Amino acid sequence: MEEIEIIKPDDWHVHFRDNEIMQAVVPETTRHFARAIVMPNLIPPILNGKQAIQYKERIKNATPKNHKFEPLMTLYLTEETNKTALKQAYIKGDVFAVKLYPAGATTNSDSGVKDIKKIMPVLETMAEVGMPLLIHGEVTDKDVDIFDREKVFIDQKLDFICNKLPELKITLEHITTSESVSYVREANKNLGASITPHHLSLNRNAIFFGGIRPHNYCLPILKREVHRKSLIEAATSGNPKFFLGTDTAPHLTIDKESDCGCAGVFNTTYCLPILAQIFDNEKSINKLEDFVSKNGARHYNLIFNKETIKLIKLDNKLIFKNYIGIKKEKIKIFQPNFSIFWTVADKLL
Ligand code: NCD
Ligand code: ZN
Repeated sequence: MEEIEIIKPDDWHVHFRDNEIMQAVVPETTRHFARAIVMPNLIPPILNGKQAIQYKERIKNATPKNHKFEPLMTLYLTEETNKTALKQAYIKGDVFAVKLYPAGATTNSDSGVKDIKKIMPVLETMAEVGMPLLIHGEVTDKDVDIFDREKVFIDQKLDFICNKLPELKITLEHITTSESVSYVREANKNLGASITPHHLSLNRNAIFFGGIRPHNYCLPILKREVHRKSLIEAATSGNPKFFLGTDTAPHLTIDKESDCGCAGVFNTTYCLPILAQIFDNEKSINKLEDFVSKNGARHYNLIFNKETIKLIKLDNKLIFKNYIGIKKEKIKIFQPNFSIFWTVADKLL
C-alpha cells in the first residue's frame, strides 16, 4: 500500500463563521490542520483586537479537546482602521494579519476599502512592524467582466501597492489565473499567493455542467482550463511562493440554492485527499508537503509544525459524504468531478 507521511498541514485561509455553523465546521479543520488563518468577514466584521480575541476564544471552545490547533486571527481593513491601535494589536499578538476586501467584492465585504490611497498610511505601518496584508484581489467595477476582475486588480491596484511598499508582506489570496501566477512568481520575495483545492480541481464549465451548479459558485469565480493548469503547475512546482489556503466558505444549502445564491465552497472535509490525488496525477506527490505544510510557514516566517500526518492510497475510490448537518439545515461538502483514491490515516476521527 502506498502511503506518505508529511508535516501536519496548515490552512492559510478559512471562514469559520460563528454560532452553529462555526460549531459544525471548526472540527473539520482542526482534525487535519495545525494552524489556520481565520477570515474576519463576520456580520459585523472583526475590526479590532478585542473582537479578534473574543472570536478566537469562541473558535477554541468549538475545537474538540483532542485536537491541537492554533487559530491565527485577522482584522478587517476599512478606510477608518486606526494604525496605532492596529500596531498595538499586532505587537501584543492578538492579531496575525489584516484582510483587505475591496468594498463589495465578495460575501460580507460591504464595509471594505473603496479607495486604496486612503489605506496607504495603515499599510506603511504594517510594513514597518512586519504585519502581513492578505488581499482579496478583485476589482469591483461592474463594467469589468467578472472573469477579468482578478487580472484588472493586479494591473490597477496590486502593482501600485507592491511598488510603493516592497517591504510589506503580502498574500494574494485564492489566485485563479495564469496572470496571477506569473505576477507572483516574478515579484519580490514578500509577495506570495494561496491557492484553493476547488480552483485546482475545476474549471468554469463546472458551474454550468448539465445545469446551473450553485455549489461550484465562489469568488473569485472559477476560470478557464488554461488557468487551472497554470495553478496546478504553480502548486506542484515546489516554488515557496505558492501555498494552500482553502478559502473554505460554508453557506447553508438554502442560501446557495437560491434566486441569488451566496458565493463560497465548503471544502475542508476532503481537502487533503483531493490535493493528494491532484499531486499524484501530476507525478508530484513528493511536492505535496511543500504546498500544504511548509511554504505557507516559510512565507509567514513561522516554524514548521512538529506533528505529522499520514496519507494512504486506497484500492477503491473514496466515498464522499455529501453534507454536514446544521440543526435542521445542511451544508454541501465540496466534491470534485474526478475520483479520489487517497485518504488521511486518521487518529482523530
Ligand atoms: C467567501 C465567503 O463566503 O465568506 N466566499 C467565497 O466565495 N470565497 C468570501 C471570500 O473569501 O471571497
Ligand atoms: Zn475567503
